[in-house]
Amino acid sequence: MSISLESRLPRVGTTIFSVMSQLAQEHAAINLAQGFPDFECSPELLELVYKYMRDGYNQYAPMPGVLPLREALATKIASQYQFSPSPENITLTCGATEACFSAITSVVRPGDEVILFEPAFDCYVPAIELAGGIPVYIPMHYPHYQFDWQMVREKVNSKTRLIIINSPHNPTGALLSKHDMLELEHLVIEKKNLIVLSDEVYEHMVFDGLPHESVLKYAALRERSFAIFSLGKTYHVTGWRMGYCVAPAALTKEFRKVHQFNTFSVHTPSQYAMAEFISKKEEYLRLPDFFEKKRDYFLSAMKKSNFEMFPSKGSYFQMASYKNISTQPDVQFARWLVEEAGVAVIPTSVFYHNGVDEHVVRFCIAKKEETLQAAADRLCKI
Ligand SMILES: Cc1ncc(COP(=O)(O)O)c(C=O)c1O
Repeated sequence: MSISLESRLPRVGTTIFSVMSQLAQEHAAINLAQGFPDFECSPELLELVYKYMRDGYNQYAPMPGVLPLREALATKIASQYQFSPSPENITLTCGATEACFSAITSVVRPGDEVILFEPAFDCYVPAIELAGGIPVYIPMHYPHYQFDWQMVREKVNSKTRLIIINSPHNPTGALLSKHDMLELEHLVIEKKNLIVLSDEVYEHMVFDGLPHESVLKYAALRERSFAIFSLGKTYHVTGWRMGYCVAPAALTKEFRKVHQFNTFSVHTPSQYAMAEFISKKEEYLRLPDFFEKKRDYFLSAMKKSNFEMFPSKGSYFQMASYKNISTQPDVQFARWLVEEAGVAVIPTSVFYHNGVDEHVVRFCIAKKEETLQAAADRLCKI
């Protein structure tokens, strides 16, 4: 007997990230597609995890996360964002992905509208749709990818429940400025019932001396925001699946109701290890410079190529227009690139619900210099 199922997510297929990684493997291509580092994390951090495993920290962690880690995160946040959250308002999650899912599921009801900017990271919309919400898209465009607050104001209505922001932005490398934050702050003050989900997983990857504008810096915003972060991104351990959400008491209460029946808690020894490691401020304070050098290295290695690139302002990513190389649609171009040039990238149209194609692809720059050089050598030949 075959089961007939009406999909809850009919538009979701295999993600382009898996498709491109698979193609990269088949063609022995250099993988600048998926957003993960090809360099190792600190050996000291690994030693700490072994230590806590050997010392017997191997059973369920408390549902919100172990207290020493929540305290260490509260201290880190206080030193960065002029705001001291209580550890009671911090919840450890299985990556920022779970935090986004739990946040969206905890506040969005059937028929609620959720505003988000496109191109958008792919985990938001499935969560909105599973909750019965309706995504409302605000487009951003190559090359400057500005956040259009006028359009946001036009779209906000009595059904709008949530606004999702993401800065530094995946895939574009755009940053929300202080001006953007003030626009959002005015809006939420005016429209009392709006909640904000601020995806800040690339908080430490900001370039050219620009600041990261966290919602936590703005009093009226943090009172109604889920601020979401990723320890995986900050400490080069994306496979450990560790993220966290900072939110006021009322939001944290609802958030934890979902989290506890979703993943319940996060890997225990890694939490104790992180709690100890986070006190080493230089580990994250050096990151803007570390990743800016990678961006500059890649831009310089690509100078002779026919791609057009405006320097990314932050994140793991650099966008590039191939309009001087080909008129193919971007998905086709990305396939061609992996097969013929041996470099895997992500076509940007997949980040738009309606497939807007501006002939732009995304490169991940969170790679060793030799990887970036080898990719640039191949790309400069086309
Ligand atoms: C913008 C954005 N948000 C969230 C995530 C998910 O982070 P995590 O790996 O911690 O689940 C990613 C991962 O690529 C991302 O780019």
